[in-house]
Amino acid sequence: MALAATASGESARAASGAVPAYNDDVVRAAAIATIFWGCVGFLVGVVIASQLAFPVLNLGLEWTSFGRLRPLHTSAVIFAFGGNALLAASFYIVQRTCRTELFMGSAGAWFVFWGYQLFIVMAALGYVMGITSGKEYAEPEWFVDLWLTIVWVVYLVVYAGTLMKRKEPHIYVANWFLLAFIITIAMLHIGNNIQLPVSFLGWKSYTVPSGVQDAMIQWWYGHNAVGFFLTAGFLGMMYYFIPKAANRPVYSYRLSIVHFWALVFLYIWAGPHHLHYTALPDWAQTLGMTFSVMLWMPSWGGMINGLMTLSGAWDKLRTDASLRFSVTAVAFYGMSTFEGPMMSIKAVNALSHYTDWTIGHVHSGAMGWVGFVSFGMLYYLVPVLWGRTLYSTRLVAWHFWIATLGIVLYITAMWVSGIMQGLMWRAYDEYGFLQYSFVETVAAMHPFYVIRALGGVLYLVGALIMAYNFYKTITAGAPVRVSVPQAAAA
Ligand code: HEM
Ligand code: HEM
Repeated sequence: MALAATASGESARAASGAVPAYNDDVVRAAAIATIFWGCVGFLVGVVIASQLAFPVLNLGLEWTSFGRLRPLHTSAVIFAFGGNALLAASFYIVQRTCRTELFMGSAGAWFVFWGYQLFIVMAALGYVMGITSGKEYAEPEWFVDLWLTIVWVVYLVVYAGTLMKRKEPHIYVANWFLLAFIITIAMLHIGNNIQLPVSFLGWKSYTVPSGVQDAMIQWWYGHNAVGFFLTAGFLGMMYYFIPKAANRPVYSYRLSIVHFWALVFLYIWAGPHHLHYTALPDWAQTLGMTFSVMLWMPSWGGMINGLMTLSGAWDKLRTDASLRFSVTAVAFYGMSTFEGPMMSIKAVNALSHYTDWTIGHVHSGAMGWVGFVSFGMLYYLVPVLWGRTLYSTRLVAWHFWIATLGIVLYITAMWVSGIMQGLMWRAYDEYGFLQYSFVETVAAMHPFYVIRALGGVLYLVGALIMAYNFYKTITAGAPVRVSVPQAAAA
């Protein structure tokens, strides 16, 4: 089928003999930034996990308190690690699939790259110094938001401009997901950050909508940050790198289009599931729940497409570092997108909300899906970008198993602790009094917090092994020509 287009433009390029001068320096820089920020974000995750287990680690200082380091962790892993992975993926993929170099040459892409790193540093310093708008995942104050808006608009121009000057007639599906990610994040960022600065040197601002409207907009943003940053963008990554590494066409190109449109249409309505049993009107909560349950289907459409692309090539899992991570990532994606719709059902959410169950759900998606699919991309990209063979496949196996064990420890500890916490909060004695005081529930969490911190340490160690492996790959010996597998066009 013509639509089962090349997972990259390589085959067509080979046929035409024309090799565009791809702007890969910026892709290399974004790959290095992904590894660097990943290690920083995981380290801060381990610190805050340890603080929850042993509060003395807050050190009695405001700058090192859990309250300030938690947003540092969430932004470092989502926006710095995940964001740089998406920059690397999008700049690499759009050039290959459009068979052309980037629009505006390297200049636009370098502006986006450095502008984005500046955003990360400004946001992080702000958190530690206590400069925050207090809106989860949108903590940066107005001046940082304005800067990100400029960077993001240039990103859109570079990306869309490259699509427009493409030399391939077809826009490969990975680009659909990546473009949806870039456009929707712009919309969410602007929509959720309409703020009025109230002091200049204090950098303080307040959001224009207030009360329940503010909460609704915040979770419209929050949930779609999950849907478009942590999901659509990484699905774009999946749709390019799994077919490439497996050297097979996407299992069903039609399914990829159908689940794309279903996903982008349904995600945008699901935000109210974060506000069950609040002042939000009941009908809006039910609407959010209904759309969340429907989201299960397009989510699993993506999972099925990712996994089935390996039909006939499952043996490659034993030898291919990239595929091993990407395919496990898709399995975690399937798991968390089954759990999410279930948790959005009001009766289930009555138990799970405010508990560690949510944290377990978050990290099966975040560490399992976002983390592993990014590692899969890096194990593919680093040898290709630097033209060297991977230093050690043995170290990849170590990374894989240590990190997988880390995730399993993390999420099972949070499931047990979360469900126990929820059940303890709602337990009544025979006189109708609450059976447990709050502090008893906190004490009951302690062993699980220790296990979670241990899981985090393992995940971090795995990432450090990967960083070492890449360092050796890049610095070891003379460049070796790595053959880039061609995705078979059906
Ligand atoms: C070494 C690995 C990691 C550790 C030890 C870790 C630890 C933590 C801890 C302790 C919290 C706070 C939980 C609470 O407030 O009760 C947290 C929150 C969070 N983490 Fe991680 N994390 C890790 C990796 C990641 C990754 C890779 C991502 C995303 C790509 C991520 C995304 C988040 C998010 C979104 C939250 C906020 C969850 C919520 O508010 O419900 N984490 N993490
Ligand atoms: C069909 C897909 C999904 C649905 C319907 C869904 C649904 C939910 C629900 C109901 C909650 C709990 C809200 C609450 O009680 O406060 C939640 C929290 C969360 N989910 Fe999902 N989820 C999905 C997929 C994912 C994936 C794949 C990820 C990560 C990559 C993810 C990341 C998160 C985060 C970060 C939160 C915590 C937000 C916060 O309170 O700070 N979700 N999700």
